Amino acid sequence: MSRWLERTHVEDASSVLRRAIADGFFREDTPAALFHDLGRVRARLAELDACFPEGTLHAVAVKANPLVEILRALVAAGAGLEAASFEEVRLAMAADCPPSRIVFDSPAKTKDELAWALAHGVPINVDNFDELDRIASRIGQTKPAHIGLRVNPQVGGGSIALTSVATRASKFGVPIERRDEIIAAFEAHPFLCALHVHVGSQGMPLATLVEGVRRVDSLRAEIEARTSPGRVHTFDLGGGLPVAYRPDDTPIPLSAYVNGLKETTPGLFAGGLRLVTEFGRAIHATAGWAASRVEYVKQAGDERLAVIHLGADLLVRRAYRPEEWHHEIAVLDAEGRPKGGLTEPVTIVGPLCFSGDVLARGLALPRVDPGDFVVLHDVGAYTLGMWSRHCSRGLPLVLGYDGETLSILKDRETPDDVVAFWSRSREQPPRSEP
Ligand code: LLP
Repeated sequence: MSRWLERTHVEDASSVLRRAIADGFFREDTPAALFHDLGRVRARLAELDACFPEGTLHAVAVKANPLVEILRALVAAGAGLEAASFEEVRLAMAADCPPSRIVFDSPAKTKDELAWALAHGVPINVDNFDELDRIASRIGQTKPAHIGLRVNPQVGGGSIALTSVATRASKFGVPIERRDEIIAAFEAHPFLCALHVHVGSQGMPLATLVEGVRRVDSLRAEIEARTSPGRVHTFDLGGGLPVAYRPDDTPIPLSAYVNGLKETTPGLFAGGLRLVTEFGRAIHATAGWAASRVEYVKQAGDERLAVIHLGADLLVRRAYRPEEWHHEIAVLDAEGRPKGGLTEPVTIVGPLCFSGDVLARGLALPRVDPGDFVVLHDVGAYTLGMWSRHCSRGLPLVLGYDGETLSILKDRETPDDVVAFWSRSREQPPRSEP
């Protein structure tokens, strides 16, 4: 059975949290922890493998969840890694990803970063013609390189402007309306061997995602007509699918995406072309959830507020654009058991020093008391990776699990770690008083 759309129910979170408490991972002095279902992540990778042609590289987007232990699990399961910065390239290497399975995408690669990637055999998707010139001036001096060009298919935005990257004036890639120049670039640079397209996932209809790929594939045919058949040997389809964060959202199954691609761009599946995908959100978001102790409950005006240890630092999009970003929230008692009883409205607020640090207002939950746990669902993608240092709270403990087995993916940051982060030198931070 497909686990692509599988979610964590509050009962599942309860049993994992209770095991984490019993096994001493979640201690009395632990304010909050994130949990990542590594079994689910592996199952999703296996589904990608089964749905796409043999030899497809599934380069999971590092930015969706950059924890090295998570990257290591992905690499061990056969995935590649998509890097949106040079630092992400280094994270991928730290997770033992072979350089040939890394994809270096960034609109701001420096000369030194490009030289490093070329010298280490890391495939690069070029963002613009100036970057292409930089590569052309070095290419003779390095080992054979795998270089693609990112094309903006200009299919327009979805319902969330901030994550729509294929609008006419998007800052990413070469716009497809510059067709002749793109074709000329392939004619001029024999090392260019791949095309890359990314439209953006959340809030994007399936038809727009598929149309983006179709447009760039039609460009592939034109390039090959002007150069040689098979000249474009790799096609990178970019990021993946949106996620249903609300129970009444209609999710897009992986099979619907793949069938849509097969119908509109059969050439991609005809053999002879190597495909790359860069899924992030759809792999991780619903594999991750968080549990925070309720520190205080207080009355403010007509509202009952529950103060927890995760807020706009973890869920920056939720705090600033709540109409676009949603997370289901549940409550467990102090032992981690689901709470029953009548519901009453409660507002869940985070620990940061501004009044917009609110995760949900007037939520109907069984009565929330100090010492209870609040569970934040579907926080596995673009949360820790977008962690805000506002108020300098430390990153929470992150635990991974696969069936019954729990492990630490990242220790909780201590106050000393945070002092080191903000210090001039991370080698010798000022010592804090005991
Ligand atoms: N490839 C490229 C070139 C990308 O820019 C992205 C995401 C991905 C792959 C992965 O796409 P996914 O399958 O995760 O949709 N919550 C963040 C979203 C940023 C996504 C950026 N790019 C935000 O609010 O900014």
